[in-house]
Amino acid sequence: MIFTVAIDGPAAAGKGTISRAVAAQFGFRHLDTGLLYRAVSAKGGDPVDAARGLRPADLDRDDLRSLAAGQAASRVAAIPAVREALAGFQRRFAREEGGAVLDGRDIGTVICPEAEVKLYITASAEVRAHRRWLEVGGDEAQVLAEVRERDARDMGRDTSPLRAAADAVVIDTSEMPVDEAVRRASDIVERALEARR
Ligand code: C5P
Repeated sequence: MIFTVAIDGPAAAGKGTISRAVAAQFGFRHLDTGLLYRAVSAKGGDPVDAARGLRPADLDRDDLRSLAAGQAASRVAAIPAVREALAGFQRRFAREEGGAVLDGRDIGTVICPEAEVKLYITASAEVRAHRRWLEVGGDEAQVLAEVRERDARDMGRDTSPLRAAADAVVIDTSEMPVDEAVRRASDIVERALEARR
């Protein structure tokens, strides 16, 4: 069975948690596509060369999850040739036999517009910054400023800007416990699977 769940949205909205839970529940493979952009910027050198030469081992670094790595990733992600170099791998992952969950910014709009399920997970910038701050500590106002800066860059770029696909279901997690968001996402996937049976 070929079945793609595309999960897009801004940083710290809950995409990762929801994606992992949905993948585990339905036995689908999961790809955190943000990690690809983080790894490209962490490799250094020319970002287009880094994207073209990206290898699985490049994703294994333990410095990819920091706030700084996220900011740096959003800069290389604005380069059209970097996005192009990473697109084929993501598309193959999405359409391989067995079902796949991909989370990112442009999965439902550009990488896999034919996805069987499209979700757009969002929350207010304040709530997202607070969640990130609970994980990383430091100055919360600074974390909020960085969240806003990254949103502006990801939503404002010319190539594949972050936005909900017209046919995506929007889940706003600002005032929703994570298990409720996971349940809603799972229900939507379950219904889409049933419709195909
Ligand atoms: O999701 P994550 O925070 O790991 O993504 C890091 C950055 O990578 C994002 O801010 C965004 O600029 C970029 N990205 C993207 N398209 C994706 C996934 C991530 O442009 N599909």
